[in-house]
Amino acid sequence: MPLRVAVYDAKPYDHSALENASGEHDLEWVFHPFRLEAATAPAAEGAQAVCLFVNDHADAAALQALEKAGIRHIALRCAGFNNVDLNAANECGIRVTRVPAYSPHAVAEHTLALLLTLNRRIHRAYNRVRELNFSLKDLVGFDLHGKTAGIIGTGRIGAITAEIFRGFGMKVLAYDPMPQQTWAIEKGIQYVALEEVISSSDVLSLHVPLVSDTHHLMNAESISCMKPGAILLNVSRGGLVDTTALIQGLKSGHLGGVGLDVYEEEEGIFFEDLSGGVLQDDELARLLTFPNVLITSHQAFLTHEALHEIGRVTVENLTRLFNGKSPLNGTEVLAE
Ligand code: NAI
Repeated sequence: MPLRVAVYDAKPYDHSALENASGEHDLEWVFHPFRLEAATAPAAEGAQAVCLFVNDHADAAALQALEKAGIRHIALRCAGFNNVDLNAANECGIRVTRVPAYSPHAVAEHTLALLLTLNRRIHRAYNRVRELNFSLKDLVGFDLHGKTAGIIGTGRIGAITAEIFRGFGMKVLAYDPMPQQTWAIEKGIQYVALEEVISSSDVLSLHVPLVSDTHHLMNAESISCMKPGAILLNVSRGGLVDTTALIQGLKSGHLGGVGLDVYEEEEGIFFEDLSGGVLQDDELARLLTFPNVLITSHQAFLTHEALHEIGRVTVENLTRLFNGKSPLNGTEVLAE
C-alpha cells in the first residue's frame, strides 16, 4: 500500500518538486489547489499524512478534522510553523515536521534583490525605459558602501544576509537574544541592543520567526525610532510589521523605502492570480500606491535549489514516519 499524502495549496512547482523527490519511495500524492482550514480538512480522507505550506490554517478545528480523517503526520514544506497550533496537534496525536533550512541563501539573496531594486529605483526605471522615457528624474539612490545595515535575528537567513551586507562594505549591527559572538567577531559584525539596531540603521532587515514576542516588532513606536529615510525590509513573516503603522511611516515621509516579501494579511492573496478582480484589502492597495514600496508575494524561497531541498526533506520525513522511524534531525516541531 503506498503512503498517500494530501498536499494542500499545491502549485505546479510543488507537483514537480514532490514528484521528482519521490524517487523509489511508494508515495501517492493527492494535490489540492485549495488551502487547509477546518472546512477543507475532510478532503484529506484516505490519506495518512498532509503536506502544508505557509498559508494553510492548521488551527485546532482543522486539526481535529484531520485527526478524524485519519491523518497522523503534517509535513510542512516550509520553515515557519506559526500556522500550526502545536498543542492541538499534540492532543490529536499528529506529528509535525518542517524543512528548517531549504536554502537560506535563496531568502537572503531575495532580501538583497528587494533592497537594490528599491534603493536604485530599478522597478521605476524598468517601466520608464520600456515607454521610451529615458529621464533620470527621481531615480537618485544612495551608496550602500559605508552605510549601516541592521539585522534583527541572526539565525540561518539573517547571518547570510549580514555577510552579504558586509560584502557591500556596510557596517552591520545585529540583535538576537541568542547571539553568535564568534561568528560576529570573525565577520566584523557587532551585536548591540535592539533599540540601537533600529535607531542606527540605514537599512533594517527582519529575520526572526513570528511568535508572540515578535508580533508587531515594527510598530508605530519602533518605526518612529528608525532613522529618517531608512529602508525597512521584511522577508520573514507579515505579522512582524504593523501595517497601519507602516503606512503612516510612509505617508509622513519618515521611511525612505519598504521592501516586503510577506504581508500580515497575505493569506488568500499571495500566491494567487487576482488580476482582473477587485482587491478587497485596502491596506495592501494603499501600500501598492507608494513609489518607494516594493512587494513580492512570498517568493524569497523560490529557487530551484530550495524546491529540490524542500522535496527531498519532505519525502524523507514522510517515509521515515510512515515506517515507524524518527524524522530527520531537527525537523520535528514539538509543542512547548
Ligand atoms: P532561524 O531559526 O535560523 O533564525 C531565527 C533567529 O531569530 C534565531 O537566531 C533566533 O534566536 C532569533 N530570534 C528569535 N526571537 C527573536 C527576537 N525576539 N528578536 C531577535 N531575534 C530573535 O530562522 P531562519 O531560517 O533564519 O528564518 C528566519 C525567518 O525567515 C522566519 O520568520 C521564517 O519564517 C522566514 N522565512 C521566509 C521565507 C520566505 O520565502 N519569505 C522562507 C524561509 C523562511
